[in-house]
Amino acid sequence: MSSIRNVVLSPSLLSADFTRLAEEVKVMEEGGADMLHIDVMDGHFVPNITIGPLVVASLKRITELPLDCHLMISDPDSYLEAFAKAGASIITVHVEAAVHLYRTVQTIRDLGCKPGVTLNPATPLSALEEILPFIDLVLLMSVEPGFGGQSLVPTLHRRAATVRTMLHEADNSGCLIEADGGIKLDNVAQAFESGVDVIVSGSGLFGTDDPAETLREMRRRCEGTNRTEVH
Ligand code: DX5
Ligand code: ZN
Repeated sequence: MSSIRNVVLSPSLLSADFTRLAEEVKVMEEGGADMLHIDVMDGHFVPNITIGPLVVASLKRITELPLDCHLMISDPDSYLEAFAKAGASIITVHVEAAVHLYRTVQTIRDLGCKPGVTLNPATPLSALEEILPFIDLVLLMSVEPGFGGQSLVPTLHRRAATVRTMLHEADNSGCLIEADGGIKLDNVAQAFESGVDVIVSGSGLFGTDDPAETLREMRRRCEGTNRTEVH
């Protein structure tokens, strides 16, 4: 059996102009964003502080797009309910931070959100093995989390291909693979081709002259690749 894979575009608001957040969201909607990636940092798990549930709730009021919340925080369990109430659609936690990962994932689902799990670039993929049957999204970090504008760690492609195989083996082929960090127009097609479904891009969009058009071009470049997946 074969099927066509579609790319899912999730612009990271981290590189948006926060004085004009609503306008920036509109620009991404015009460009055809499928969801919005929201980077939550606590100054502890990562050396930066960004967005909390309050901003997520504000975004929820101005857009229908699913809110893809990436929690780069040390104690995710204490904040899951707040992000769910704020309107998160996907809540992704780091395996390096969530000590009781199975419980955390179940809590996210019980709160009505889709659970995602993410790994830093140097975390072995084996850390995913036991949780794979229970999640809706694997987020592969292609930079060390904490800041936008870094260069992609090229092990992403091999890791995405391996996770794709692991998902087949875990009988969870519906689970999406997302990549985050250093993705721009010139490398988006390669990321998609290697098995990534959900593309996160921050500076690669907001740092360009016409972010909506750059987003459209990202989709075209992914759709220009061989998208047939054989099961
Ligand atoms: C990094 C964040 C990313 C970041 C990506 O810690 O998780 O989502 O915004 O930014 P770019 O695309 O600029 O690497
Ligand atoms: Zn992120």
